[in-house]
Amino acid sequence: MASKNKNWEYAPSLESTEHITLKKRYDLFINGKWVKSASNKYFKSINPNDEKVIAEISHANQRDVNRAIEAARNAYTKVWSKMPANERGKYIYRIARLMQERSRELAVIESLDAGKPIRESRDIDIPLACNHFFYYAGWADKLDYAFPNRQISPLGVAGQIIPWNFPILMAAWKIAPALATGNTVVLKPAETTSLSALKLAEIIQDSGLPEGVVNIITGYGDTGAAIVNHPDVNKIAFTGSTGVGKIIQKSIAGSEKKATLELGGKSANIIFDDAPLDQAVEGIVNGIFFNQGHVCCAGSRLFVQEGISEKVIRKLKHRMKSLVVGNPLDKNTDVGAINSKEQLDIINKYIKIGKKEGAEIHQSACSLPSKGYFCPPTIFTNVAQSSVIVQEEIFGPVLTIQTFRTVDEVIQKANNTPYGLAAGVWTDKGSRIFNLTTKLKAGVVWANTYNKFDPSSPFGGYKESGFGREGGLHGLSAYLKLT
Ligand code: NAI
Ligand code: MG
Repeated sequence: MASKNKNWEYAPSLESTEHITLKKRYDLFINGKWVKSASNKYFKSINPNDEKVIAEISHANQRDVNRAIEAARNAYTKVWSKMPANERGKYIYRIARLMQERSRELAVIESLDAGKPIRESRDIDIPLACNHFFYYAGWADKLDYAFPNRQISPLGVAGQIIPWNFPILMAAWKIAPALATGNTVVLKPAETTSLSALKLAEIIQDSGLPEGVVNIITGYGDTGAAIVNHPDVNKIAFTGSTGVGKIIQKSIAGSEKKATLELGGKSANIIFDDAPLDQAVEGIVNGIFFNQGHVCCAGSRLFVQEGISEKVIRKLKHRMKSLVVGNPLDKNTDVGAINSKEQLDIINKYIKIGKKEGAEIHQSACSLPSKGYFCPPTIFTNVAQSSVIVQEEIFGPVLTIQTFRTVDEVIQKANNTPYGLAAGVWTDKGSRIFNLTTKLKAGVVWANTYNKFDPSSPFGGYKESGFGREGGLHGLSAYLKLT
């Protein structure tokens, strides 16, 4: 549904769903085959745009987890760890190419199941996921060059647990480097967004990858916990909430399991008075309204230099008028559906808290569809550093705006958070960019842009945003024993 704002009404342009095939009910992908869950329990995957059931998904229990890990262990010892690296690489290339061939199907499934605008799943998520496989396929037979004069060996079986904000992209971030380094995998997608990972399982099956090298099992947090606690898992890779990250870290303490945790964020987007303002406003919009704000590195705290704050806020409000909120499958849509009812409730709770704290709210004056889970782009001014909405991760299209006068002040404010995932700096001055990038405690700092990703550049956090890096050369070492 297009925005009600008369100036910006477009005719709907819906992406077709005719070319996709989905099963009514999904089993688990273990040892190269689709097998029934021992639990015999299923849950529903809901389309957040219309609240309709898309498919039923298996809820894997402990026995299923045991089976999947056993399959991964067998594949590791008997096949994958013995295979010449260049042969391993060929399989990863094949997966990448098959994903590319089926990219339209993957994009539509992602938008249906996760609520993200088709423009994003089509132009960002799927191409980046393919590129991740291509990138790591290239490394498979060059690991000796990546780590010269070191002895390298794979870790074994990797348990990988991913969230719902970038379902297929996170699956690619996890699976591709694990395979390139000679590990085998048990992956669990998030309960609200399993479908693209299950489609990836079909692709993996078509690729002829040896049985058991990648196993994809579905379920809730209990399934994830069973993977984490299984004694025969050598490595845990997790992306999700800081709360669950802490639970995982506690449960593997004292074991030899290696871990990478990519957790929450409350990233600062900083605009100086010499910045190109129209570009910066686009960067603000991209930083927080992109993917409904379901982005761990979302630029959710805006800092504007005092002299230009009124102008920036005016421009931002004007830009918000033209954002189209609605059906994720509509090619005009800028802001799609919130991933789940639970997440919408969390976001609305924070909006209430913000108002109660005395902050001034402004929301896009768009009409929201009557069905589905939607939240209009929202900004809060008149907030304090101590406000709950400034301190806590909201994970929705909600931005807080503060002002600053000096460089030191903004560094201090930007770093005043338990998180440290990303930051953005907008200025015409190169020296200022270099100064800030060294002083901001954030894993990624973008300059005059925001939310740009590339498989060759490492990604990860400081402090409560987690540890370990994914992507690039750093992403390889997370799956290797180096001596
Ligand atoms: P979550 O952290 O509970 O879920 C992420 C994944 O972990 C899912 O696959 C889930 O099934 C699994 N999981 C849950 N409990 C587990 C456990 N004890 N052991 C192992 N795996 C477990 O995130 P949730 O509840 O969906 O979202 C809550 C909040 O977390 C959001 O509002 C947002 O603030 C934050 N979040 C941050 C993400 C990020 O990328 N940094 C991604 C998703 C959520
Ligand atoms: Mg949860």
